[in-house]
Amino acid sequence: MEEILNINSISKRYGKVKALNNVSLQINRGEIYGILGPNGSGKTTTLGVILGVLNADSGSYCWNGKTPSKNDRKNIGSLLETPNFYPYLTARQNLSIACEVKEVVQSEVDRVLNVVDLINRADSKFKTFSLGMKQRLAIASALLGNPETLVLDEPTNGLDPQGIAEIRTIILDLAKNGKTIIMASHILDEVEKTCTHVAVLKLGNLLTYGPIQSVLNNQEQVLVVSENLDLLKLTLAQIDGVSNIKQIKDKVSLILAKGKDISYLNSALFDKGIAVSEIGVQDSDLEANFLELIK
Ligand SMILES: Nc1ncnc2c1ncn2[C@@H]1O[C@H](COP(=O)(O)OP(=O)(O)O)[C@@H](O)[C@H]1O
Ligand SMILES: [Mg+2]
Repeated sequence: MEEILNINSISKRYGKVKALNNVSLQINRGEIYGILGPNGSGKTTTLGVILGVLNADSGSYCWNGKTPSKNDRKNIGSLLETPNFYPYLTARQNLSIACEVKEVVQSEVDRVLNVVDLINRADSKFKTFSLGMKQRLAIASALLGNPETLVLDEPTNGLDPQGIAEIRTIILDLAKNGKTIIMASHILDEVEKTCTHVAVLKLGNLLTYGPIQSVLNNQEQVLVVSENLDLLKLTLAQIDGVSNIKQIKDKVSLILAKGKDISYLNSALFDKGIAVSEIGVQDSDLEANFLELIK
């Protein structure tokens, strides 16, 4: 694993508001790292600090093991606020201007338009774009110069489900091609579907972080069906590693301890004379876990 970003005990206040409190985090190459938290939890402040737009009160951070020079920063593409595109200029013209500002070769324009699937609309005026297309153009702009790392603040904010799915596809494709992506979001579902890792912030404090499954889902919820649900519940209660037995309509749900799997449960039930007609892991209730975390 190659460390791309190391955030070391960063704190930041705005007057009385403590926006970040001793936040530390390591991000490795190739990860899609979600910074997840409710509004006001310090996500944008975190991104602002690591992009050098805001100064932290204390703490430090390194990109690739050092404080980045202006030149190193060119290897970090960012989308912190929606860029000011000119409404009466086309997508291509807007990106061409962005290329000049970023001192990037003009051939980048068509490359990034392809990446975000806007090449067919390259010569349409920005003002004719849907919100989703505008956001894709903003991502295209962040991709100019082919940076290794992308930092995106709420990249799907305000988009409809289709627009959200399009951005997700772009992010997953970029990661597949080796980019490291750091994205802030207040939407659990988005982070869950897109990210490999997550850091959960609440009121400026880092509550937990790590691979997404281990953070948001550390137990398996299993659903079982058999002929006699009362007998099933009684029997389940006798099996080692089973807890939280509940009947949900015509199924019984339970939590299986770490290290136990479905085949273990199935054979334990079989040994006790229960034939199951259905057994499987339930998509665990990440939402409940997340809400529990930020409560
Ligand atoms: N420029 C600012 N001036 C004063 N308070 C700010 C400023 N920017 C952010 N804050 C406060 O800092 C906290 C964290 O904000 P922010 O980083 O924007 O959170 P998030 O992006 O998670 O919604 C919030 O309480 C917010 O009101
Ligand atoms: Mg924010």
